[in-house]
Amino acid sequence: MSERLYIFDTTLRDGEQAAGCQLNRIEKIQLAKALEELGVDVIEAGFPVSSPGDFESVTAISKAVSEPVICALSRAVEGDIDAAAQALRFARRGRIHTGIGTSDMHIRYKFNSTREKILQQAVDAVAYARNLIDDVEFYCEDAGRTDNVYLAQVVEAVIRAGATVINIPDTTGYCLPEEFGQKIRFLKENVDGIDKVLLSVHCHNDLGMATANTVQAVLNGARQVEVTVNGVGERAGNTALEEIAMIMHNHRELGIDTGIRTRKLFHTSRMVSSLMNMPVQPNKAVVGRNAFAHSSGIHQDGVIKLRETYEILDPRDVGMLDNSLVLTARSGRAALKKRLLSLGVDLDKDELDLAYDSFLKLADVKMDISDDDILKIAGRSADSQAPVRLDWLKVVSGKGVGHEAEVRLIVNGEAHEAHSAGNGPVDAAIKAVKMIIQRKMTIREFLIQAMDKGSDDTGKVHMQVEYEKCLYYGFAANTDIVTAAVEAFVNAVNKFYK
Ligand code: KIV
Ligand code: ZN
Repeated sequence: MSERLYIFDTTLRDGEQAAGCQLNRIEKIQLAKALEELGVDVIEAGFPVSSPGDFESVTAISKAVSEPVICALSRAVEGDIDAAAQALRFARRGRIHTGIGTSDMHIRYKFNSTREKILQQAVDAVAYARNLIDDVEFYCEDAGRTDNVYLAQVVEAVIRAGATVINIPDTTGYCLPEEFGQKIRFLKENVDGIDKVLLSVHCHNDLGMATANTVQAVLNGARQVEVTVNGVGERAGNTALEEIAMIMHNHRELGIDTGIRTRKLFHTSRMVSSLMNMPVQPNKAVVGRNAFAHSSGIHQDGVIKLRETYEILDPRDVGMLDNSLVLTARSGRAALKKRLLSLGVDLDKDELDLAYDSFLKLADVKMDISDDDILKIAGRSADSQAPVRLDWLKVVSGKGVGHEAEVRLIVNGEAHEAHSAGNGPVDAAIKAVKMIIQRKMTIREFLIQAMDKGSDDTGKVHMQVEYEKCLYYGFAANTDIVTAAVEAFVNAVNKFYK
């Protein structure tokens, strides 16, 4: 009889904290529904006190999703806990995730406090939260660098105060796998009441050890893991959900099952990648484009003789579909829809019509339409709702003729035009956009990348724009890189422009 490992997905909270990965409410609901279908046990939907947008998203997800527990993050302070409880009021099963830093580093430099006071604040927070909701998870932030004896005291005290789940995060991704596994064992052996609660771990990937640390923790008694799709998250990210799911699926000798429907992993991975504009690295374990590609002759020979010689995972088990259907200018809507579905994008009829128009335009100028192209085409239709849209752009640029641009933007439904010169075509076009938008904005980062190869390729532009001391991320892709640059700028502007 195998044991159950609970999957706590934090793509919508820790994952969304990753630079440039912010989602709007509609996108969060779409992703929450996909996570429900994937079979996660808990969805951490946001940090309600952090902004009205986060609060509303937690409420909306609580209404839209019924199977998983919906969890809301808070610090160990009453205002945060109240906001979390309020945001969760429609959840069929809600959980408040409260906690505080327990390492001496956090206690001393972050809180200017003492171990005794922090322990008391932890107990008070849990008791307060338990008056509002039955399910309270407590996190000991920076547990990876917390002294084990003190950590055990905090954990025991919050269990006595009513915590139902204990989360041990390696917040900074510092621990070695064996060290982290021993920390979990130490708590299992030294905390009264530990067997009455669910023991959870939450690892970061700063040294590339998030998955190894999580597995060691499971081998030492943790029964909930906090993970994100594609491993997205703060800095180097969190433990990747798909890696843990496939480790447990493959290593049957461990006798541990998750409820993940593994055949939905690829679809969910691509949905997260497209919604967050965060490409999946080609060699990413389990879901990367090359995860099942054998290129050396020796390997190919082996795989032809027997797949298992070089493949420990079956691509079908993670839902990698057959992409042999080549998309060209002669492909119909049905073929485009089928490919989009396999990439995790389900468009309604109007959106599909829009995407199909863009697809035909691209297919006319580009022979090889890649999955990235398709995703960008589909993403483009969502921009039609944005307050600022690029309607038209003309550039005159070249050696000896200077650089000038004329731009027409649709701003809240009204057309505005401007003309500017610059030190290059992009500079001229962005200056013209700025003349229309009339806000003090500075480009802090500007990255142009070709998607495939060849001069007919689509260019991707990532941009960071500073406005009122905040950085806003913009992305666009187009076969014309000047247009892509302007669209990426407009995409960033739309994050703050009302
Ligand atoms: O990394 C961390 O410690 C966290 C906590 C808020 C759970 O994300
Ligand atoms: Zn974290």
